[in-house]
Amino acid sequence: MADPRRDEPLVLGIETSCDETGVGIVRGTTLLADAIASSVDEHARFGGVVPEVASRAHLEAMVPTIRRALKEAGVSAKDLDGIAVTAGPGLAGALLVGVSAAKAFAYALGKPLYGVNHLASHICVDQLEHGPLPEPTMALLVSGGHSSLLLSTDITADVKPMGATIDDAAGEAFDKVARVLNLGFPGGPVIDRYAREGDPEAIAFPRGLTGPRDAAYDFSFSGLKTAVARWIEAKRAAGEEVPVRDVSASFQEAVVDVLTRKAVRACKDQGVDHLMIGGGVAANSRLRALAQERCEAAGIRLRVPRPKLCTDNGAMVAALGAEMVARNRAASDWDLSADSSLPVTDPHVPGHQHTHGHDHVHEVSKENLYS
Ligand code: KG4
Ligand code: ZN
Repeated sequence: MADPRRDEPLVLGIETSCDETGVGIVRGTTLLADAIASSVDEHARFGGVVPEVASRAHLEAMVPTIRRALKEAGVSAKDLDGIAVTAGPGLAGALLVGVSAAKAFAYALGKPLYGVNHLASHICVDQLEHGPLPEPTMALLVSGGHSSLLLSTDITADVKPMGATIDDAAGEAFDKVARVLNLGFPGGPVIDRYAREGDPEAIAFPRGLTGPRDAAYDFSFSGLKTAVARWIEAKRAAGEEVPVRDVSASFQEAVVDVLTRKAVRACKDQGVDHLMIGGGVAANSRLRALAQERCEAAGIRLRVPRPKLCTDNGAMVAALGAEMVARNRAASDWDLSADSSLPVTDPHVPGHQHTHGHDHVHEVSKENLYS
């Protein structure tokens, strides 16, 4: 019997918004390959991502990672229905490497190009794990650069911001607290590990923006970060040992308590019975557990992709690209540019004149080194 999935769009996605060079291949909502090269080790000694270092690493990793993804998926580049790439938001120089590579690759192959939004990709990736996204879906997006609550009725066309952080992103708070504790970079995974052996109630850290007059769906983590730093400084000044496990657990609890409380409240207020959590911080084990507990209590279905799909990767870009093709969304123009502050309300960057990518692909040689 013919494979029914053969009809679903086969899309390659390229992600270079930060320090991971990700190339994923997806057929419809099925993951075929998720190749990644990370420059995280090169940034560790600086305590944060250095944009120029990231850009150069993307340049070096791009072609080998594309090759690896095609091999892993067992498909030929000429069979692809489209090339998707993160057009923004992210680091300008890093994005530019991905966009340029995607353009060159798509143009040489004669395939449509889809410039897509990094944040919408973090949401759409869940289709690879749990099947088509319910419409509407409430999404709690928590990463190193973003923390927001988004309501989507169609991930390719309609993403509405309900609330966002007014200062630091959740992941940024993890990274900064880890730095104060000398735990290295990125901080999230290490704090997650230490917290498992600590007491989340040992220290009562503040829950930002949870007063009755505060914006219901906005977040603030800057005050928490400062409170944790002051608490640690006071311990050190008194010559006492800092209880890293308890600090990690209590800090983490403050973050995930607020995130889950507000997300569940948004779902209830808006009458939405599906919550999706995405972005690097969604890999956090305590966030996943508490969200599960609170969603169950509220009758909300929770969807969180497996940790590897939560942090930046190419599969999420391919997943959104495949959805764009499936829904016949307009391909991007060849003058697609990287937009470091692409608004979350733009799931993709459609071209101006054409409704279908194939129409404006010029006739160029289809023979190339990838086929
Ligand atoms: O989505 P992502 O990979 O990159 C951005 O788009 O920012 O998110 C990276 C962020 C970092 O701040 C990192 O510390 C955090 O996600 N992170 C975690 C965990 N794993 C990664 N935060 C808490 N717990 C984790 N297990
Ligand atoms: Zn991300």
